Amino acid sequence: ASTTELDISALEPGQAIKAEFRKQPVFVRYLTDAEIAEANAVDVGSLRDAQTLAERTQPGHEHILVVMGVCTHLGCVPLGAAEGEVKGEYGGYFCPCHGSHYDTAARIRKGPAPTNLEVPEYTFTSDTTIVIG
Ligand code: FES
Repeated sequence: ASTTELDISALEPGQAIKAEFRKQPVFVRYLTDAEIAEANAVDVGSLRDAQTLAERTQPGHEHILVVMGVCTHLGCVPLGAAEGEVKGEYGGYFCPCHGSHYDTAARIRKGPAPTNLEVPEYTFTSDTTIVIG
């Protein structure tokens, strides 16, 4: 299928899960209030790839961040989506291949990656179900 349906009802604040979309990893994270505040406290103009958290999430679902798990440098799969994995210096995701650090909105903050982790097209079909693609 060209779409991926995900039940995120078991996801708790602070947790992220890995799924697959078109044979590539996709990360879904339930942001904590602290992670949301951290993302919103950043001066967007200072970012390499200037986007707000609101621009990277959906209205009414700002605590759910859906991104491709593909580093925008050379395509490695970043860490941070599984229990116990390092999240990097900005608390989001970390790519160990060449050291790219992504923040809690999965925006590039340090390292060679040129852009934020990509947000795929997706829709909420219920409060706990998303369809990617
Ligand atoms: Fe991620 Fe190079 S592929 S830092």
